[in-house]
Amino acid sequence: MDKLVIRGGEPLLGTVRVSGAKNAALPCMAAALLTDEPVILENIPQVRDIQTTRNLLAAMGAEVELGYGRAHHRTTLHCKNLSSPEASYELVKTMRSSTLVLGPLVARCGRARVSLPGGCAIGSRPIDMHIKGLEQLGAKITQDHGYVEATADRLKGTEIVFDKITVTGTEDLLMAATLAEGETILQNCAREPEVSDLAALLNKMGAKIEGAGTPTIRVKGVSKLKGAKHRIIPDRIEAGTFLIAGAMTGGDLNIAGCDPTHLGAILGKLKEVGVKTKSTSDSVRVMGDNPFTASDMSTEEFPGFPTDMQAQFMALATQAEGASIITENIFENRFMHAQELVRMGANIKIEGRRAVIRGKTPLSAAAVLASDLRASASLVLAALVADGETIIDRVYHIDRGYEHIEEKLRAVGAQIRRIGEMFPKKAAPARA
Ligand code: EPU
Repeated sequence: MDKLVIRGGEPLLGTVRVSGAKNAALPCMAAALLTDEPVILENIPQVRDIQTTRNLLAAMGAEVELGYGRAHHRTTLHCKNLSSPEASYELVKTMRSSTLVLGPLVARCGRARVSLPGGCAIGSRPIDMHIKGLEQLGAKITQDHGYVEATADRLKGTEIVFDKITVTGTEDLLMAATLAEGETILQNCAREPEVSDLAALLNKMGAKIEGAGTPTIRVKGVSKLKGAKHRIIPDRIEAGTFLIAGAMTGGDLNIAGCDPTHLGAILGKLKEVGVKTKSTSDSVRVMGDNPFTASDMSTEEFPGFPTDMQAQFMALATQAEGASIITENIFENRFMHAQELVRMGANIKIEGRRAVIRGKTPLSAAAVLASDLRASASLVLAALVADGETIIDRVYHIDRGYEHIEEKLRAVGAQIRRIGEMFPKKAAPARA
C-alpha cells in the first residue's frame, strides 16, 4: 500500500496549477446518463474517484473515451444504450457519490437500482433526501437487500423543499427534474459552485434551469436532452489546500488556474489568521508570514467556510498563537485527523462537534494514518512543517481527490516522495 514520505522545513516557492474540481466533475459525468448523445467534459482531474465513476458508467453500458497526450484531461461519455441501469455495492462502497446516478437513471430509463452507501468515515451520511425528493417527483421507491430501486413512467414536476441543505441531493434531483413533465421548484438548495457548474452543463444539453447558485432553483422539464461540451471549474478545495501549504511553510506560492470568487470564506479566514494573499481573476499568491494569530472557524454550507477545508485549517491552527475553536457543523465525525496531529505534537481537544487547538506547537515527524481524503491533506500540511521525516500511510485516500499531489508539491520545493504501489489492486473501502 502506498505511503507518502515528507521531510518538513522547506518553504514552498513558485507556481502550482490547480486541477478541475472532482466534486463538479462527478455530477457532470452522471449528467451524461441523461442523453443518448456524447457529452465531452474537459478539465477532468485524473483522480481515483473519476476512474471509479468511469467504471460505474461503463458497467451500465456507456462508451467511455479518454483523451490522449495534451488532451488527457478530457473524457467523452456516450450513454447511447444503457443496458444495465444499476450501481452495484462493489462500486458504491468505494465512492458514495455513486448515488448521483439515481436521479438521472430513473429520469432517462424509468428504472434505477443503486446500492445504499452505508456508513462513512466522516459521519452517517444518509441519502433520505434524495429518495424523498424522487418520490415527490413521482418515482416509486423500494428498498431491498441493501439496494434502492426506483421506477417511474415519467417523473412529474413538483415543489420540493429540502429539509437540510445537501450538495449531491440538490444535484441528483436537479438532474432528475430536467426530464420531468412540467415545472419543478427546488427550495433550500445547496449554493455550491459545483451545483452551478452542473446546471451550466445541463443547460448546454438543452435543460431549462434558472436560479442555480441560489436557494431556489426552477426547472422546466424537457422531453429530451442532447450532447454538449463543457469545461469543469477549478477545484476550490485543492486551491485552498495549496494556500495553506504556502502559508504554513513560510513560502511564496502562486496558485494558478483557480477561481478566487469561489474562495471568499477561505481567503477571509486566512486574512484573520494573518496570512497575506493577493488575488487576480484566476490566481492567488500567498506569502507565508509567521506569526499567525488564532482564529475561530465554523464550517457552513457555501458561501460559508467549507467542511472540506476544516482538516487543513486545523493543521494551520496548530501553528497560530493562541486558542482556535473549530466547530464542524456539516458532518458529525469529521475530526479523525485531530488525533494524528496530536501524535505529531499538536495540542487539540475534541468536545463533540468542537475542537480546541492551542498553538503554536512545534510539530515533529511521526508515522501517521490518513482516515479520509481531507484528513490526508491535513497530515501532508503538518508534515511539510514538521521536524524530520513523516510517513503517511493509507494515501489511497488522497489519490481519490488530489491529482498528482506529490509531483505538484515537489515542483515547488517540498521534499516529498511516494513509496509503494501507485494504485493497489485491493484498496480498503473509502468514502467521500
Ligand atoms: N444529509 C442527510 N440526508 C441526505 C443527504 C445529506 O441527512 O439525504 C446530511 C449529511 O449527512 C450531512 C449534510 O446533510 O450531514 C450535508 O451533506 P451533503 O449531502 O451536502 O454531502 P454530500 O453531497 O454527500 C458533498 C461533497 C463532500 C462535501 C459535502 C459538504 C461531493 C461528491 N461530495 O457531499 O465532499 O464534504 O458535499 O460540502 O460533492 C470531499 O470531497 O472530501 C467530500 C466529502
